Amino acid sequence: MNAIRAHEFGDPDVLALEDVSQPEPAADEALVRVHAASVNPIDWIVRRGEFDDPIWATRPWIPGWDLSGVVESIGSDVETLSPHDAVHGMVRMPRSGSTYAEYATVPADEVVRKPASLDHVGAAAVPMVGLTAWRALFEEVSVGPGDRVLIHAAAGGVGHVAVQLAKEAGATVVGTASGNNERFLRDLGVDEFVDYRIERFKAVVDDVDVVLDGVGGDTLERSAEVLVEGGDLVTLPVEPDAEQRDRLRREHGVETHWFSVEPDAAVLGEIDALVDEGRVEPVVSETYPLAEAAAAHDESETGHVRGKLVLDVRAESDA
Ligand SMILES: NC(=O)c1ccc[n+]([C@@H]2O[C@H](COP(=O)([O-])OP(=O)(O)OC[C@H]3O[C@@H](n4cnc5c(N)ncnc54)[C@H](OP(=O)(O)O)[C@@H]3O)[C@@H](O)[C@H]2O)c1
Repeated sequence: MNAIRAHEFGDPDVLALEDVSQPEPAADEALVRVHAASVNPIDWIVRRGEFDDPIWATRPWIPGWDLSGVVESIGSDVETLSPHDAVHGMVRMPRSGSTYAEYATVPADEVVRKPASLDHVGAAAVPMVGLTAWRALFEEVSVGPGDRVLIHAAAGGVGHVAVQLAKEAGATVVGTASGNNERFLRDLGVDEFVDYRIERFKAVVDDVDVVLDGVGGDTLERSAEVLVEGGDLVTLPVEPDAEQRDRLRREHGVETHWFSVEPDAAVLGEIDALVDEGRVEPVVSETYPLAEAAAAHDESETGHVRGKLVLDVRAESDA
């Protein structure tokens, strides 16, 4: 089968399309013919060697955690899936998911039926960003009616789903992005928009109950200043250390949260129900054939993707 592999960590050109042997499912796994695999920042963070730890990637490494495809065969213990089922999920996180390939084995309890309303490209876009947004808003904190939520990087993968989930929960949503994403975010439901390139959100936003920070660094620090006393700051990019958490609590009275997203089939099923009801919609701004995974990483690494990038794996193998 064709797969994207890296024999070393580094620039996007370490990603090469290679002919590799098809993986065999273990007793509790399924073999999935991958139709689409989405690109997430963690894919290129690991590719760069920033997590040079065997938990994340042994070499040669096949990148990717999100996939949508069709079950080809199942291991002897699998009772929940059958061949021909269309499934999607974020698999094996943080161990290698290896979804940038024509076939991938997946733990049967980490995938669910693909939402009927989405094609495989759309379905591959959902799992990691959906699970992250859900956990941030409803497990780390519990966003509900009347809450005022500030979402940084609102136009990105996690952000654009988080905007929709927070609105579904009855919150008032403030989103930050550059001006060319204002229409996009207003259409998704943001109540207030801040163009971070022309104004500092600190000057125009206050009394926020929850911040979801997909940017980090200085944005994280400044976010503490717009939260109400006792507010919650969920940051995604980098785990804050104890000193920073203590300081933000002491100086601003806010609680800082960070987590590492994990597979959760039950939550993915809940997100999919919202998708099928038309209440949450993943937005795919561009697709690439599998062979052009390096170009997809180049684009993702700009930090300015709207919604999601997806590798359309079948498009290439049928070409
Ligand atoms: N801890 C976890 O488990 C976990 C899980 C998932 C993701 N993450 C992390 O969360 C972050 C976001 O992930 P993602 O998938 O949403 O990334 P992404 O899709 O690549 O985010 C791109 C978006 O960021 C926006 N952006 C860039 N700089 C900004 C700024 N200064 N202020 C506001 N918006 C800005 C861009 O909007 P413009 O083009 O308008 O600038 C773009 O739409 C990444 O660091 C990722 O690694 C962590």
